[in-house]
Amino acid sequence: MRTLRDIDQLRSTLREHRQRGQRIALVPTMGNLHAGHLALVACARQHADIVVSSLFVNPMQFGPGEDLDGYPRTFSADQSQLTEAGCDVLFAPAVSALYPNGLDAQTRVHVPVVGKGLCGGSRPGHFDGVSTVVSMLFNLVQPDVACFGEKDYQQLAVIRKLVRDLHMPIEIIGVPIVRATDGLALSSRNGYLSVEERATAPALYRTLCMLRDALERGAAIDESLDQGKAALSEAGFTPDYLELRDASLASVSPATRHAVILAAAKLGPARLIDNITVQLP
Ligand code: PAJ
Repeated sequence: MRTLRDIDQLRSTLREHRQRGQRIALVPTMGNLHAGHLALVACARQHADIVVSSLFVNPMQFGPGEDLDGYPRTFSADQSQLTEAGCDVLFAPAVSALYPNGLDAQTRVHVPVVGKGLCGGSRPGHFDGVSTVVSMLFNLVQPDVACFGEKDYQQLAVIRKLVRDLHMPIEIIGVPIVRATDGLALSSRNGYLSVEERATAPALYRTLCMLRDALERGAAIDESLDQGKAALSEAGFTPDYLELRDASLASVSPATRHAVILAAAKLGPARLIDNITVQLP
């Protein structure tokens, strides 16, 4: 695996592969890799000849008071894991390479509607930061396909809309959530949890499963969501949101069948998110 920090080097390396007719896949990450990220790399391997992974802790997507400075940085372990997983190129630019004029002077990409509410409501500007950096990475790498995790369900919806609206010729693939054996969705932020909090954390997924089962049996939506929030609070979480949306994140209507329950909740220092699909009766 080649590790490249320089934009010109990345472009010339990928130009050679493209000229040979090779398909390129991109897996964007912020590092501190775990089995969830590696599932994206495995998916990328199946869809392309050359797998490029990016590792960039993107300052633009962190709000004031969020965990930008404390975000776990584990570069050499990430490098080894990517090599092992069959990644061909690791692109790990410096902040000054992607934002040479600073964040304030940077052109931003805003994706409306799907970026509103949920994490977009609790983290103002977050999805503009994600959309901007992902657009940049798409322009730099020009991948044929890019893989994103369903764990960040709203992020995936934002990226799909971005690619559609800007007519980018990139296939976006969603990869199912990878969970620990106790159900907790793997996340770099799980590392913030104490031993006790880590033991509590699977209650988030258990609550989503309980809600899904209730809704699939025809339980009333608002009451079930209220019960879910109460269950999270009782387990020790501070719920941020717990919502039922249709699969494209629009509000549910009586005609909705394919839906998703999305949750964000704070547990100690960590803000955890998760989601689960539901087939409404
Ligand atoms: P990061 O949190 O590092 O996640 C990188 C990718 O891994 C995302 O597509 C995310 O959905 C996926 N992922 C994380 N945990 C997962 C899990 N348990 N199962 C499956 N996939 C999982 O998401 C970001 O970085 C950034 O916002 C980024 C897209 C890189 C833009 O900066």
